[in-house]
Parts: sequence; C-alpha cells; structure tokens
Amino acid sequence: MPDPTPPSPTRLTELPAPVISEERATVYLGDAVELLLLLPESSIDALVTDPPYGLSFNGHSWDDASGFRESLPHIDTSAMSAPEVFETWCTAWAAGALHALKPGAYVAAFGGARTWHRMVRGIENAGFEIRDQIAWLHTTGMPKSMDLAHAIDKHHGAHRADRIVQTADHDGVLGATRTVLSRGTPVTDDAQRWDGWGTALRPAFEPIIIARKPLEGTVVRNVLEHGVGGINIDGARFADDRWPTNIAFDQRQADALDMLTGTWQGESLSRKFPIFRFDHKPGAAERPRAFGVSHSTVKPLGLMRWLVTLVTPRQGLVLEPFSGSGTTLQAAIETHCRVVGVEKDPSFIPLIRSRLEK
Ligand SMILES: C[S@@+](CC[C@H](N)C(=O)[O-])C[C@H]1O[C@@H](n2cnc3c(N)ncnc32)[C@H](O)[C@@H]1O
Repeated sequence: MPDPTPPSPTRLTELPAPVISEERATVYLGDAVELLLLLPESSIDALVTDPPYGLSFNGHSWDDASGFRESLPHIDTSAMSAPEVFETWCTAWAAGALHALKPGAYVAAFGGARTWHRMVRGIENAGFEIRDQIAWLHTTGMPKSMDLAHAIDKHHGAHRADRIVQTADHDGVLGATRTVLSRGTPVTDDAQRWDGWGTALRPAFEPIIIARKPLEGTVVRNVLEHGVGGINIDGARFADDRWPTNIAFDQRQADALDMLTGTWQGESLSRKFPIFRFDHKPGAAERPRAFGVSHSTVKPLGLMRWLVTLVTPRQGLVLEPFSGSGTTLQAAIETHCRVVGVEKDPSFIPLIRSRLEK
C-alpha cells in the first residue's frame, strides 16, 4: 500500500483561517485529508465522525471514488479499484487524525454495512488500534433492491397492466420518491420463474468503529499524562444505570424486539440496550435548512451526544473531519465539549452555523 501521508508541494503548509470561530467551535472549509495533518500535533481528545461510506450515496461525488481521488493528488490511484481507492483515502484521513489526536485518544467512526471493512483497514493501516464495533440498529432503512422478475419482463419488453407505482412529490431525503404499491403479475415465463427474487436486504444496522491511538505506556500512565485513554462508562449508562453495550437501538427496533421476546426476568429485553427515542432518519426539526440547502445524511443528535459522551473526557476537544450539517458539532457543544470541524462543501457551512446558533 502506498504511503498516503507525504503532502505534495502544492498542498497547504498551514491551516487556513477558520470559516467559523466561536468560543467552543472552530470550523475549517477544506479537505480533511489535507487539513488534519496541519492541526497541532497531539492536541485533540477524541474523534467522533460520520465520514463518507464510499457508496456513491444519491450520486454525491463526495461519496465516490472521484471525490476520494481528488483528495489524494499525491498518490497514483489510476490502477486501483474503487474499493482500494476508498481504503487508501480512509488511511489518509486516519493518518491525519492520528497526528492530531493525543496518545490514547478514542475514535468513534460510522461506516457503511458494505464498505466498513475498508474503513477499518484504513484506520488500522494508519496506526490506530481497533477496540470494538457498535451496531446501531434501526428500522427505517429502505431496501435498494432490484425486482428481478419485473426487470426481466422489462428486458423482454413485456408490460404489466396491473403494476401500480406511486410517485412522491418530496425530494427523497426522508424516503423513497417511488413506492411500488402493487408489483403486478409477471408476464413472461422467465419473470414467473424469478418472481419474488431481489438483490438486497433492507438495511437495519450501521457499524460504528471504536478505535484508539496507541497508548504511551500503561492505560493509567497515559490517562494521567494525556487525560485520555479510557471510555466514560458511567456517563454513557442508560436505563437504570446499565453498562453501555456495543449495540444501540432506535425505539421501533426496541419495540419489535420486545414484541418478539416478551419479558425476561420480569422486564423487557430491550431495557438491556441503549435506546434512542427517535427515528434513524431525524425528522425536519432536527435537520437544518439554509438558503434552500439541506443535508441528505443527517445523523440523529441523541446518538451523536451518546458517542461524544462515551469517548470524550469532560470538556474535551472533539474532532469531526466530515461535519456535513454539523450534527457532531452540536452534540459536542451540548455535552459541554469543544469541537473542531472540517467540511469540504461550502454549501453546508450555513447549516453548521445555524446549528451552532441554537
Ligand atoms: C456522511 S456526511 C456527514 C453528515 C453529518 N453527520 C450530518 O449529520 O449532517 C459526510 C460529509 O463529509 C464531507 N466530505 C466528504 N469528503 C470530504 C473531505 N475530503 N474533507 C472534508 N469533508 C468531506 C461531505 O461533503 C459530507 O458533508
């Protein structure tokens, strides 16, 4: 694997002026791969981040190989496959994070179910120790599956008279723009044979990787010297003071679990896990909109608050290299921390500003 860290001569040699500079939040506009290496060394207490998953989400270039290649002008990626480019890019931002984090500082990073293995390798390649993985279970994901039988009918030019599709008038951010109300009856023999077959499961979990910058000495020595190295068990307890788990639910997923399992030793099973009382996709009140722009991959604020609490020391400094609409930044401030954010797309900066004004 090529070394992703040496900057090319045309790259920045010092941090640009921040686009937001407040008492508890500093935000830089630019590329995280470039900027993290310019942050003061060993200055950050925790990395809590929701990076691109490398899934070309909604066709966004920030989530596909072209965007990742742009971040890596100093590396020849021409012979690499898209997953290899993604892994190299993850190694590059993680190398910047390793530079900026204090020894023993924790990382909590979201990944996509199909691509997180590349991100984990990237984080590990950069020098972090992989500690755990939290499964964030939710109910509102939509399957992106091809209806094989319908596709076969279309391929043969056969039209289904009884197929009913509803087209929604919203922008698709909160759900599907086309809903198949009735699949209709397969027309061709081939379609009949493949009726009921698809290509994808309904997404119901997202992994959150927990990693740590190597300690200097023992945990105790590192904690006393650098103020980081442990996780905040008591701060992240939930429901009757339970130990935080590496599974978290949304409310509907918890209700579904209880319906299936009933009670055990006099209580519902879901009480054993942290539950965030909102949907996987936050509603309009949690999604900032400024100058007609909104963000399509907004994370739930309560989940981000829980993660910040788990990995950040009291009043610590959090880094979010992929700020988007600023959810992690708001969560950090609401948990009495300070935060440094980076975002590459200038159109999202007003969204971050509107959150910080709250
Ligand atoms: C998954 S979204 C984050 C969404 C955020 N968690 C929220 O709740 O609004 C990832 C963000 O990273 C930004 N991004 C992508 N590549 C970047 C890079 N190289 N440097 C900085 N930001 C980048 C994208 O513009 C996008 O806003």
